[in-house]
Amino acid sequence: MKTEYRLARRVAQLEPSATAAMNARVQQMRAEGIGVISFSVGEPDFNTPTPIKDAAIDAIHQNHTHYTPTGGIAELRKAVAARVSRDQGVSYGVGQVTVTAGAKEGLYLAFQALCDEGDEVVVPAPYWVSYVEQARLAGATAITPETSEASGFKLTPEQLRAVISPRTRVIVLNSPSNPTGAVYSADELQALAAVVRESDAIVIADEIYDAISYVDYARWLRVAPDLADRTLIVNGAAKAYAMTGWRVGYVAGPQPIITAIKDIQSHTSTHTASIAQYAALAAYSPSDAIEQSVREMAAAFRRRRDLIIELLTEIPGVRCTIPDGAFYVFPNVTGLLGRPLKNGQVCATSEELNTYLLDQAHIACVSGEAFGAPGYLRLSYATSDEEIVEGMRRFRDSLS
Ligand SMILES: Cc1ncc(COP(=O)(O)O)c(C=O)c1O
Repeated sequence: MKTEYRLARRVAQLEPSATAAMNARVQQMRAEGIGVISFSVGEPDFNTPTPIKDAAIDAIHQNHTHYTPTGGIAELRKAVAARVSRDQGVSYGVGQVTVTAGAKEGLYLAFQALCDEGDEVVVPAPYWVSYVEQARLAGATAITPETSEASGFKLTPEQLRAVISPRTRVIVLNSPSNPTGAVYSADELQALAAVVRESDAIVIADEIYDAISYVDYARWLRVAPDLADRTLIVNGAAKAYAMTGWRVGYVAGPQPIITAIKDIQSHTSTHTASIAQYAALAAYSPSDAIEQSVREMAAAFRRRRDLIIELLTEIPGVRCTIPDGAFYVFPNVTGLLGRPLKNGQVCATSEELNTYLLDQAHIACVSGEAFGAPGYLRLSYATSDEEIVEGMRRFRDSLS
């Protein structure tokens, strides 16, 4: 007899990650011998730079394999505080940062520390799906104003003003954005800051893709330093240093909030792996070699962006805004919906088109539905030029 388990209500509401589901499907198809090209993974295809790996190996040999203080070793928190101070132009002390198991854990803990039942969290759509699920796990309601292609998928001050209320606890700003690659200019952030000042909400600025911006990158607190006491900066080593598997991120902000986050950490993960912390210490310490690797990776992403945009826009029925950062393109595919494709099949939604592309073209993307934006696909171009060229050929050939 199959046992029925009663799960907590908050879990019953949880949507499992669409990107993880797609990755599992790709693995399964590959195991069956099908040569799938994946544009669904949100991680650099480069290896972690050698000096960072060496620092981790040294840490093992030096037996840095014991528990560390909650929120990370002091040297790393010092290096993070120095980096955030330099980036933002606002002074951060060691007590104002905590190191987490990826930016994702940092965000989760931030919502847990800030939100109560009935609170609202503003998450502009298209959004990285974990914001919405994490806000819900903290008892809050996600309010998701829809940005448009016309505004470059950026939240306008009018849109922000329209959704802010006394219940607004947090406003999430993610620039460069996953999934759209949108990067806010200083003027655009300035205009949003004026609206934030009318409320008492906390801003979570997720800058995880900051090293991958193809335009002048404007940081939230450079533009609005007076809002430092109402801002959490979230960042991590994953994307800039090709360190996704190491699980190192951080949150920087007002000490009482950071202390609350650390208190939760002290009862949950305690800290991310000691060895990963030493690797991150190398990443965050001044090094010409590492900075050079970061620049080279960003340059490769830029080249691949240009390549994929060129090939995508040649596909009839596909329209694409040019992303200014991260490593995603977010084409509008409504021109391919509701009409017969090559094998006579008609796709009514971008989700159906996504399945069609996987089955017919053996390319894996993620449908816009997963990001609160039906009618779009997200493609990660953190993959080789050859795969981009072949993948776009398959995309095109599968349609007519
Ligand atoms: C916008 C955004 N924030 C945070 C994260 C989490 O990154 P990490 O691997 O550091 O947990 C991701 C990862 O895909 C992301 O796209």
